Amino acid sequence: MVTADAAEIHQAAQALLDASLFSYQGEPIGTRAALSAGIAAENYVDCFIRDFVPSGLVFLFQGRAEIVRNFLRVALRLRGLQEEIEGHHRLPRVMPASFRVERDGYGDEVLHADFGDRAIGRVAPVDSMMWWVLTLQAYVNVTGDAALAEEPAFQRGLQSILTVMLNDRFEVFPTLLVPDASFMIDRRMGVYGHPLEIQALFFATLNAMQELLTPDQTTSTMLELAAKRRAHLTEYVRQFYWLDPLKLNEIHRYETEGFGHDVANPLNINPESIPDWVADWLPDDAGYLLGNLGPGRMDFRFFAQGNLLSMVFGLSSPEQNTAIMQLFDQRWPDLVGRMPVKLIYPALVGVEWQILTGSDPKNTPWSYHNGGNWPVLLWPFVAAALRAGRRDLASNAIDVARSRLYRDDWPEYYDGRSGRMIGRRSNVRQVWTAAGFILAEALLEQPDRLDFWDASIHL
Ligand code: GLC
Repeated sequence: MVTADAAEIHQAAQALLDASLFSYQGEPIGTRAALSAGIAAENYVDCFIRDFVPSGLVFLFQGRAEIVRNFLRVALRLRGLQEEIEGHHRLPRVMPASFRVERDGYGDEVLHADFGDRAIGRVAPVDSMMWWVLTLQAYVNVTGDAALAEEPAFQRGLQSILTVMLNDRFEVFPTLLVPDASFMIDRRMGVYGHPLEIQALFFATLNAMQELLTPDQTTSTMLELAAKRRAHLTEYVRQFYWLDPLKLNEIHRYETEGFGHDVANPLNINPESIPDWVADWLPDDAGYLLGNLGPGRMDFRFFAQGNLLSMVFGLSSPEQNTAIMQLFDQRWPDLVGRMPVKLIYPALVGVEWQILTGSDPKNTPWSYHNGGNWPVLLWPFVAAALRAGRRDLASNAIDVARSRLYRDDWPEYYDGRSGRMIGRRSNVRQVWTAAGFILAEALLEQPDRLDFWDASIHL
Protein backbone atom coordinates (compact mmCIF):
# COMPACT_ATOMS: atom_id res chain seq x y z
CA MET A 1 0.00 0.00 0.00
CA VAL A 2 1.43 3.34 -1.05
CA THR A 3 1.17 6.04 1.57
CA ALA A 4 1.83 9.66 0.84
CA ASP A 5 1.21 12.93 2.55
CA ALA A 6 -1.11 15.64 1.27
CA ALA A 7 1.74 17.72 -0.19
CA GLU A 8 3.11 14.77 -2.15
CA ILE A 9 -0.35 13.96 -3.52
CA HIS A 10 -0.91 17.57 -4.54
CA GLN A 11 2.46 17.59 -6.34
CA ALA A 12 1.61 14.38 -8.19
CA ALA A 13 -1.66 15.89 -9.42
CA GLN A 14 0.16 19.04 -10.49
CA ALA A 15 2.83 17.03 -12.33
CA LEU A 16 0.14 15.15 -14.26
CA LEU A 17 -1.63 18.38 -15.18
CA ASP A 18 1.60 20.01 -16.36
CA ALA A 19 2.61 16.95 -18.36
CA SER A 20 -0.72 17.03 -20.19
CA LEU A 21 -0.08 20.46 -21.73
CA PHE A 22 0.53 20.60 -25.44
CA SER A 23 1.56 23.45 -27.70
CA TYR A 24 0.84 24.99 -31.05
CA GLN A 25 3.36 27.33 -32.68
CA GLY A 26 5.41 27.29 -29.53
CA GLU A 27 2.60 28.27 -27.14
CA PRO A 28 0.74 25.98 -24.70
CA ILE A 29 -2.89 25.82 -25.85
CA GLY A 30 -4.59 22.93 -24.08
CA THR A 31 -4.42 19.83 -21.92
CA ARG A 32 -4.88 16.26 -23.14
CA ALA A 33 -7.79 14.29 -21.69
CA ALA A 34 -5.67 11.41 -20.39
CA LEU A 35 -2.04 10.38 -20.39
CA SER A 36 -2.61 6.66 -20.01
CA ALA A 37 -1.67 4.61 -23.01
CA GLY A 38 -3.39 1.37 -23.90
CA ILE A 39 -7.10 1.08 -23.21
CA ALA A 40 -7.81 4.76 -23.76
CA ALA A 41 -9.93 5.59 -26.79
CA GLU A 42 -8.03 7.27 -29.59
CA ASN A 43 -9.46 10.71 -28.87
CA TYR A 44 -8.15 10.93 -25.30
CA VAL A 45 -5.05 12.63 -26.73
CA ASP A 46 -7.36 15.53 -27.62
CA CYS A 47 -8.08 18.56 -25.49
CA PHE A 48 -11.82 18.44 -24.76
CA ILE A 49 -13.40 21.83 -24.18
CA ARG A 50 -15.34 20.56 -21.13
CA ASP A 51 -12.30 18.73 -19.72
CA PHE A 52 -10.18 21.86 -19.97
CA VAL A 53 -12.44 23.83 -17.60
CA PRO A 54 -10.90 22.61 -14.30
CA SER A 55 -7.40 22.79 -15.84
CA GLY A 56 -8.06 26.33 -17.03
CA LEU A 57 -9.36 27.45 -13.64
CA VAL A 58 -6.29 26.00 -11.94
CA PHE A 59 -4.01 27.84 -14.38
CA LEU A 60 -5.90 31.09 -13.79
CA PHE A 61 -5.58 30.77 -10.02
CA GLN A 62 -1.90 29.95 -10.37
CA GLY A 63 -1.20 33.09 -12.41
CA ARG A 64 -0.72 31.16 -15.68
CA ALA A 65 -3.50 32.99 -17.51
CA GLU A 66 -1.67 32.97 -20.86
CA ILE A 67 -2.49 29.26 -21.26
CA VAL A 68 -6.19 30.01 -20.89
CA ARG A 69 -5.96 32.95 -23.26
CA ASN A 70 -4.28 30.75 -25.89
CA PHE A 71 -6.91 28.05 -25.39
CA LEU A 72 -9.76 30.54 -25.82
CA ARG A 73 -8.24 31.95 -29.01
CA VAL A 74 -7.53 28.56 -30.54
CA ALA A 75 -10.98 27.16 -29.76
CA LEU A 76 -12.52 30.24 -31.34
CA ARG A 77 -10.38 29.89 -34.44
CA LEU A 78 -11.41 26.24 -34.85
CA ARG A 79 -14.96 27.28 -35.64
CA GLY A 80 -13.77 28.31 -39.07
CA LEU A 81 -12.01 25.02 -39.74
CA GLN A 82 -14.94 22.69 -39.99
CA GLU A 83 -16.21 21.67 -43.38
CA GLU A 84 -19.96 21.76 -43.78
CA ILE A 85 -21.75 18.73 -42.44
CA GLU A 86 -24.12 18.01 -45.27
CA GLY A 87 -27.46 19.68 -44.86
CA HIS A 88 -26.38 21.58 -41.73
CA HIS A 89 -25.55 25.21 -41.80
CA ARG A 90 -24.54 26.44 -38.39
CA LEU A 91 -25.17 24.45 -35.28
CA PRO A 92 -22.55 21.71 -35.48
CA ARG A 93 -19.88 24.32 -36.21
CA VAL A 94 -20.36 26.46 -33.14
CA MET A 95 -17.68 24.91 -30.94
CA PRO A 96 -15.95 21.53 -31.18
CA ALA A 97 -16.02 18.81 -28.54
CA SER A 98 -12.24 18.54 -28.73
CA PHE A 99 -9.13 19.41 -30.72
CA ARG A 100 -5.55 18.31 -31.22
CA VAL A 101 -2.38 19.33 -33.05
CA GLU A 102 -1.02 17.01 -35.74
CA ARG A 103 1.86 17.19 -38.21
CA ASP A 104 1.09 17.30 -41.91
CA GLY A 105 3.22 15.69 -44.67
CA TYR A 106 5.69 18.58 -44.50
CA GLY A 107 6.12 18.32 -40.76
CA ASP A 108 4.07 21.48 -40.13
CA GLU A 109 1.63 21.73 -37.23
CA VAL A 110 -2.06 21.52 -38.11
CA LEU A 111 -5.06 21.94 -35.83
CA HIS A 112 -7.76 19.26 -36.02
CA ALA A 113 -11.14 19.52 -34.34
CA ASP A 114 -14.00 17.13 -33.69
CA PHE A 115 -17.41 18.74 -33.98
CA GLY A 116 -19.21 15.50 -33.33
CA ASP A 117 -18.55 14.42 -36.89
CA ARG A 118 -15.85 11.97 -35.75
CA ALA A 119 -16.84 11.30 -32.13
CA ILE A 120 -17.98 7.85 -31.00
CA GLY A 121 -21.72 7.81 -31.65
CA ARG A 122 -21.50 11.08 -33.64
CA VAL A 123 -22.71 13.10 -30.66
CA ALA A 124 -23.24 16.89 -30.77
CA PRO A 125 -21.26 18.66 -28.01
CA VAL A 126 -23.84 21.29 -27.10
CA ASP A 127 -22.14 22.07 -23.79
CA SER A 128 -18.81 23.08 -25.43
CA MET A 129 -19.96 26.51 -26.59
CA MET A 130 -21.32 27.26 -23.13
CA TRP A 131 -18.20 26.07 -21.30
CA TRP A 132 -16.13 28.22 -23.65
CA VAL A 133 -18.14 31.32 -22.72
CA LEU A 134 -17.86 30.49 -19.01
CA THR A 135 -14.10 29.98 -19.33
CA LEU A 136 -13.85 33.39 -21.01
CA GLN A 137 -15.88 34.91 -18.17
CA ALA A 138 -13.53 33.31 -15.63
CA TYR A 139 -10.51 34.60 -17.54
CA VAL A 140 -11.82 38.17 -17.68
CA ASN A 141 -12.76 38.20 -14.01
CA VAL A 142 -9.57 36.68 -12.68
CA THR A 143 -7.15 38.68 -14.87
CA GLY A 144 -9.15 41.89 -15.36
CA ASP A 145 -8.25 41.66 -19.06
CA ALA A 146 -11.66 42.66 -20.48
CA ALA A 147 -9.99 43.65 -23.76
CA LEU A 148 -9.79 40.01 -24.86
CA ALA A 149 -13.57 39.62 -24.85
CA GLU A 150 -13.90 42.94 -26.65
CA GLU A 151 -11.83 41.82 -29.64
CA PRO A 152 -14.01 41.64 -32.78
CA ALA A 153 -13.43 37.90 -33.27
CA PHE A 154 -14.56 37.23 -29.68
CA GLN A 155 -17.60 39.48 -30.04
CA ARG A 156 -18.56 37.66 -33.26
CA GLY A 157 -18.11 34.31 -31.52
CA LEU A 158 -20.24 35.35 -28.54
CA GLN A 159 -22.93 36.72 -30.79
CA SER A 160 -23.18 33.56 -32.84
CA ILE A 161 -23.34 31.42 -29.69
CA LEU A 162 -26.13 33.57 -28.30
CA THR A 163 -27.96 33.37 -31.63
CA VAL A 164 -27.84 29.57 -31.53
CA MET A 165 -29.00 29.49 -27.91
CA LEU A 166 -31.94 31.82 -28.49
CA ASN A 167 -32.92 30.25 -31.77
CA ASP A 168 -36.57 29.26 -31.58
CA ARG A 169 -37.24 25.79 -32.87
CA PHE A 170 -40.38 23.90 -31.89
CA GLU A 171 -40.41 24.86 -28.25
CA VAL A 172 -42.84 26.29 -25.73
CA PHE A 173 -40.53 25.83 -22.71
CA PRO A 174 -37.89 28.26 -21.44
CA THR A 175 -35.44 25.35 -21.17
CA LEU A 176 -33.02 24.36 -23.96
CA LEU A 177 -33.88 21.29 -26.05
CA VAL A 178 -30.93 19.00 -26.85
CA PRO A 179 -30.30 15.50 -28.20
CA ASP A 180 -29.13 12.55 -26.11
CA ALA A 181 -25.40 12.51 -25.28
CA SER A 182 -24.78 16.21 -25.88
CA PHE A 183 -22.88 17.04 -22.68
CA MET A 184 -20.63 15.34 -20.12
CA ILE A 185 -22.76 12.22 -20.57
CA ASP A 186 -21.77 11.74 -24.18
CA ARG A 187 -23.32 8.35 -24.82
CA ARG A 188 -26.93 7.37 -25.08
CA MET A 189 -28.41 7.45 -21.55
CA GLY A 190 -32.02 8.56 -22.04
CA VAL A 191 -31.05 12.19 -21.47
CA TYR A 192 -32.49 13.76 -24.63
CA GLY A 193 -34.92 16.61 -24.08
CA HIS A 194 -34.25 19.12 -21.32
CA PRO A 195 -31.52 17.62 -19.12
CA LEU A 196 -30.69 19.57 -15.99
CA GLU A 197 -26.94 19.93 -16.63
CA ILE A 198 -27.61 21.69 -19.94
CA GLN A 199 -30.16 24.00 -18.24
CA ALA A 200 -27.62 24.99 -15.59
CA LEU A 201 -25.05 25.78 -18.28
CA PHE A 202 -27.66 27.60 -20.35
CA PHE A 203 -28.60 29.75 -17.37
CA ALA A 204 -24.98 30.61 -16.57
CA THR A 205 -24.17 31.38 -20.20
CA LEU A 206 -27.17 33.70 -20.64
CA ASN A 207 -25.92 35.45 -17.59
CA ALA A 208 -22.30 35.66 -18.75
CA MET A 209 -23.44 37.19 -22.04
CA GLN A 210 -24.67 40.27 -20.16
CA GLU A 211 -21.13 40.81 -18.97
CA LEU A 212 -19.18 39.85 -22.10
CA LEU A 213 -21.19 40.92 -25.12
CA THR A 214 -20.97 44.62 -25.90
CA PRO A 215 -24.41 46.13 -26.52
CA ASP A 216 -24.93 47.65 -29.96
CA GLN A 217 -27.87 47.91 -32.34
CA THR A 218 -28.07 44.17 -32.97
CA THR A 219 -26.89 42.78 -29.66
CA SER A 220 -29.05 45.00 -27.42
CA THR A 221 -32.21 43.25 -28.54
CA MET A 222 -30.55 39.87 -28.11
CA LEU A 223 -29.37 40.76 -24.62
CA GLU A 224 -32.87 41.84 -23.67
CA LEU A 225 -34.24 38.53 -24.89
CA ALA A 226 -31.48 36.71 -23.00
CA ALA A 227 -32.40 38.47 -19.76
CA LYS A 228 -36.08 37.59 -20.17
CA ARG A 229 -35.31 33.98 -21.01
CA ARG A 230 -33.02 33.69 -18.00
CA ALA A 231 -35.68 35.02 -15.64
CA HIS A 232 -38.31 32.69 -17.06
CA LEU A 233 -35.91 29.74 -16.97
CA THR A 234 -35.02 30.37 -13.33
CA GLU A 235 -38.62 30.43 -12.25
CA TYR A 236 -39.48 27.33 -14.28
CA VAL A 237 -36.57 25.24 -13.02
CA ARG A 238 -37.01 26.27 -9.39
CA GLN A 239 -40.67 25.42 -9.53
CA PHE A 240 -41.06 22.46 -11.87
CA TYR A 241 -37.74 20.61 -11.58
CA TRP A 242 -37.79 20.73 -7.79
CA LEU A 243 -38.58 17.56 -5.86
CA ASP A 244 -38.91 17.33 -2.10
CA PRO A 245 -41.24 15.21 0.03
CA LEU A 246 -44.01 17.81 -0.17
CA LYS A 247 -43.80 18.00 -3.95
CA LEU A 248 -43.60 14.22 -4.22
CA ASN A 249 -46.85 13.97 -2.32
CA GLU A 250 -48.41 16.47 -4.65
CA ILE A 251 -47.27 14.52 -7.72
CA HIS A 252 -48.46 11.29 -6.12
CA ARG A 253 -51.96 12.76 -6.00
CA TYR A 254 -51.83 14.69 -9.30
CA GLU A 255 -54.95 14.94 -11.40
CA THR A 256 -54.17 14.42 -15.06
CA GLU A 257 -55.66 15.52 -18.39
CA GLY A 258 -56.01 19.14 -17.23
CA PHE A 259 -56.46 21.74 -19.98
CA GLY A 260 -55.84 25.48 -19.68
CA HIS A 261 -53.49 27.99 -18.11
CA ASP A 262 -53.87 27.32 -14.42
CA VAL A 263 -53.71 23.56 -14.03
CA ALA A 264 -51.57 22.09 -11.23
CA ASN A 265 -50.09 19.46 -13.51
CA PRO A 266 -49.35 21.35 -16.74
CA LEU A 267 -47.01 18.71 -18.21
CA ASN A 268 -49.56 15.95 -17.63
CA ILE A 269 -47.26 13.83 -15.46
CA ASN A 270 -48.84 10.52 -14.52
CA PRO A 271 -48.37 9.63 -10.84
CA GLU A 272 -47.83 6.04 -11.95
CA SER A 273 -44.53 7.16 -13.48
CA ILE A 274 -42.96 7.78 -10.04
CA PRO A 275 -40.37 5.01 -9.67
CA ASP A 276 -40.54 2.71 -6.63
CA TRP A 277 -37.25 3.78 -5.12
CA VAL A 278 -38.06 7.49 -4.73
CA ALA A 279 -40.50 7.68 -1.81
CA ASP A 280 -38.41 5.77 0.72
CA TRP A 281 -35.11 7.18 -0.46
CA LEU A 282 -35.88 10.90 -0.24
CA PRO A 283 -35.20 12.13 3.33
CA ASP A 284 -37.72 14.41 5.06
CA ASP A 285 -35.73 17.62 5.03
CA ALA A 286 -33.95 17.14 1.69
CA GLY A 287 -34.69 17.72 -1.98
CA TYR A 288 -33.11 17.90 -5.43
CA LEU A 289 -33.65 19.05 -8.98
CA LEU A 290 -34.98 16.40 -11.34
CA GLY A 291 -32.82 15.10 -14.15
CA ASN A 292 -35.15 16.00 -17.01
CA LEU A 293 -38.62 17.29 -17.64
CA GLY A 294 -40.98 17.30 -20.61
CA PRO A 295 -44.51 16.44 -21.65
CA GLY A 296 -45.62 13.42 -19.61
CA ARG A 297 -42.05 12.91 -18.52
CA MET A 298 -40.20 13.37 -15.25
CA ASP A 299 -36.80 11.77 -14.98
CA PHE A 300 -36.53 11.18 -11.25
CA ARG A 301 -32.89 10.09 -11.38
CA PHE A 302 -30.49 12.26 -9.39
CA PHE A 303 -27.91 13.84 -11.71
CA ALA A 304 -25.06 15.17 -9.58
CA GLN A 305 -23.42 17.50 -12.10
CA GLY A 306 -26.71 19.26 -12.94
CA ASN A 307 -27.58 19.78 -9.28
CA LEU A 308 -24.09 20.94 -8.34
CA LEU A 309 -23.75 23.36 -11.25
CA SER A 310 -27.20 24.78 -10.51
CA MET A 311 -25.90 25.63 -7.07
CA VAL A 312 -22.58 27.00 -8.30
CA PHE A 313 -24.25 29.23 -10.92
CA GLY A 314 -27.13 30.37 -8.71
CA LEU A 315 -29.92 28.70 -10.68
CA SER A 316 -31.31 26.97 -7.57
CA SER A 317 -32.53 29.05 -4.64
CA PRO A 318 -30.61 29.28 -1.33
CA GLU A 319 -33.28 27.10 0.37
CA GLN A 320 -32.97 24.53 -2.38
CA ASN A 321 -29.18 24.57 -2.01
CA THR A 322 -29.51 23.74 1.67
CA ALA A 323 -31.87 20.86 0.87
CA ILE A 324 -29.61 19.44 -1.89
CA MET A 325 -26.65 19.40 0.50
CA GLN A 326 -28.86 17.80 3.10
CA LEU A 327 -29.54 15.04 0.57
CA PHE A 328 -25.80 14.48 0.09
CA ASP A 329 -25.34 14.40 3.84
CA GLN A 330 -28.16 11.92 4.50
CA ARG A 331 -27.50 9.73 1.46
CA TRP A 332 -23.70 9.93 1.59
CA PRO A 333 -23.12 6.18 0.99
CA ASP A 334 -25.22 6.34 -2.21
CA LEU A 335 -24.05 9.69 -3.58
CA VAL A 336 -20.43 9.85 -2.40
CA GLY A 337 -19.48 6.46 -0.96
CA ARG A 338 -15.88 5.47 -1.62
CA MET A 339 -15.27 8.16 -4.24
CA PRO A 340 -16.92 11.53 -4.73
CA VAL A 341 -19.23 11.80 -6.63
CA LYS A 342 -21.86 9.42 -8.08
CA LEU A 343 -22.74 10.76 -11.53
CA ILE A 344 -26.33 9.44 -11.65
CA TYR A 345 -28.39 7.72 -8.97
CA PRO A 346 -29.77 5.09 -9.30
CA ALA A 347 -28.44 3.05 -12.22
CA LEU A 348 -30.67 1.84 -15.04
CA VAL A 349 -31.05 -1.93 -14.93
CA GLY A 350 -32.67 -4.69 -17.00
CA VAL A 351 -35.08 -3.66 -19.72
CA GLU A 352 -34.63 0.02 -18.88
CA TRP A 353 -30.88 -0.35 -19.46
CA GLN A 354 -31.55 -2.17 -22.74
CA ILE A 355 -33.96 0.42 -24.02
CA LEU A 356 -32.45 3.66 -22.76
CA THR A 357 -28.73 2.91 -23.34
CA GLY A 358 -29.19 0.68 -26.38
CA SER A 359 -27.65 -2.21 -24.35
CA ASP A 360 -24.38 -0.30 -24.00
CA PRO A 361 -21.78 -2.63 -22.37
CA LYS A 362 -19.75 0.35 -21.15
CA ASN A 363 -22.83 1.68 -19.36
CA THR A 364 -23.82 -1.48 -17.47
CA PRO A 365 -25.48 -0.81 -14.09
CA TRP A 366 -23.23 1.06 -11.63
CA SER A 367 -20.54 1.63 -14.20
CA TYR A 368 -19.32 4.64 -16.21
CA HIS A 369 -22.19 7.06 -16.90
CA ASN A 370 -24.79 4.65 -15.57
CA GLY A 371 -24.15 5.10 -11.86
CA GLY A 372 -20.36 5.21 -11.82
CA ASN A 373 -18.48 7.61 -9.50
CA TRP A 374 -16.53 10.39 -11.21
CA PRO A 375 -13.72 12.09 -9.28
CA VAL A 376 -13.88 15.15 -11.56
CA LEU A 377 -17.18 15.96 -9.79
CA LEU A 378 -15.18 16.69 -6.66
CA TRP A 379 -14.62 20.32 -7.65
CA PRO A 380 -18.27 21.23 -8.34
CA PHE A 381 -19.19 19.32 -5.17
CA VAL A 382 -16.75 21.32 -3.08
CA ALA A 383 -17.82 24.59 -4.72
CA ALA A 384 -21.51 23.82 -4.12
CA ALA A 385 -21.02 22.62 -0.55
CA LEU A 386 -19.07 25.76 0.33
CA ARG A 387 -21.74 27.92 -1.24
CA ALA A 388 -24.36 26.24 0.93
CA GLY A 389 -22.24 26.70 4.05
CA ARG A 390 -21.33 23.00 4.30
CA ARG A 391 -17.58 23.19 4.66
CA ASP A 392 -17.74 19.94 6.61
CA LEU A 393 -19.01 18.02 3.58
CA ALA A 394 -16.54 19.74 1.23
CA SER A 395 -13.60 18.77 3.36
CA ASN A 396 -14.86 15.22 3.98
CA ALA A 397 -15.20 14.66 0.24
CA ILE A 398 -11.63 15.82 -0.39
CA ASP A 399 -10.40 13.44 2.32
CA VAL A 400 -12.26 10.52 0.74
CA ALA A 401 -10.71 11.25 -2.64
CA ARG A 402 -7.17 12.17 -1.69
CA SER A 403 -5.28 8.97 -0.97
CA ARG A 404 -7.28 6.77 -3.31
CA LEU A 405 -6.82 8.94 -6.37
CA TYR A 406 -3.09 9.00 -5.84
CA ARG A 407 -2.81 5.30 -5.14
CA ASP A 408 -4.95 4.40 -8.14
CA ASP A 409 -3.09 6.81 -10.45
CA TRP A 410 -5.93 9.32 -11.11
CA PRO A 411 -8.64 7.14 -12.69
CA GLU A 412 -11.36 8.55 -14.89
CA TYR A 413 -14.20 6.82 -13.04
CA TYR A 414 -15.06 4.16 -10.46
CA ASP A 415 -17.62 1.34 -10.55
CA GLY A 416 -20.03 -0.21 -8.07
CA ARG A 417 -22.81 1.05 -5.84
CA SER A 418 -20.34 2.80 -3.56
CA GLY A 419 -17.63 3.42 -6.16
CA ARG A 420 -15.33 0.87 -4.59
CA MET A 421 -13.72 -0.47 -7.77
CA ILE A 422 -11.71 1.32 -10.40
CA GLY A 423 -13.90 1.56 -13.51
CA ARG A 424 -13.73 -1.50 -15.71
CA ARG A 425 -12.67 0.43 -18.78
CA SER A 426 -11.44 3.51 -17.00
CA ASN A 427 -8.33 5.37 -18.08
CA VAL A 428 -5.75 6.15 -15.47
CA ARG A 429 -3.79 9.41 -15.48
CA GLN A 430 -7.04 11.16 -16.42
CA VAL A 431 -6.25 14.84 -16.46
CA TRP A 432 -9.54 16.38 -15.31
CA THR A 433 -9.44 14.02 -12.31
CA ALA A 434 -6.13 15.56 -11.25
CA ALA A 435 -7.07 19.13 -12.19
CA GLY A 436 -10.42 18.77 -10.41
CA PHE A 437 -8.63 17.61 -7.28
CA ILE A 438 -6.22 20.58 -7.27
CA LEU A 439 -9.13 22.92 -7.89
CA ALA A 440 -11.17 21.40 -5.05
CA GLU A 441 -8.26 22.00 -2.65
CA ALA A 442 -7.90 25.58 -3.88
CA LEU A 443 -11.60 26.24 -3.34
CA LEU A 444 -11.53 24.87 0.18
CA GLU A 445 -8.66 27.23 0.89
CA GLN A 446 -10.44 30.24 -0.63
CA PRO A 447 -14.19 29.64 -1.05
CA ASP A 448 -15.03 32.84 -2.95
CA ARG A 449 -12.82 32.01 -5.94
CA LEU A 450 -15.74 31.09 -8.22
CA ASP A 451 -18.05 33.94 -7.23
CA PHE A 452 -17.81 35.47 -10.70
CA TRP A 453 -20.09 32.64 -11.91
CA ASP A 454 -22.77 33.09 -9.27
CA ALA A 455 -25.70 34.96 -10.78
CA SER A 456 -27.35 35.42 -7.40
CA ILE A 457 -24.38 37.54 -6.30
CA HIS A 458 -24.61 39.80 -9.37
CA LEU A 459 -28.38 40.13 -9.70
C1 GLC B 1 -15.85 10.70 -21.80
C2 GLC B 1 -16.75 11.58 -20.95
C3 GLC B 1 -16.73 13.00 -21.45
C4 GLC B 1 -15.29 13.51 -21.48
C5 GLC B 1 -14.42 12.58 -22.30
C6 GLC B 1 -12.94 12.94 -22.21
O1 GLC B 1 -16.32 10.60 -23.10
O2 GLC B 1 -18.05 11.08 -20.95
O3 GLC B 1 -17.53 13.80 -20.62
O4 GLC B 1 -15.25 14.80 -21.98
O5 GLC B 1 -14.54 11.25 -21.82
O6 GLC B 1 -12.49 12.87 -20.90
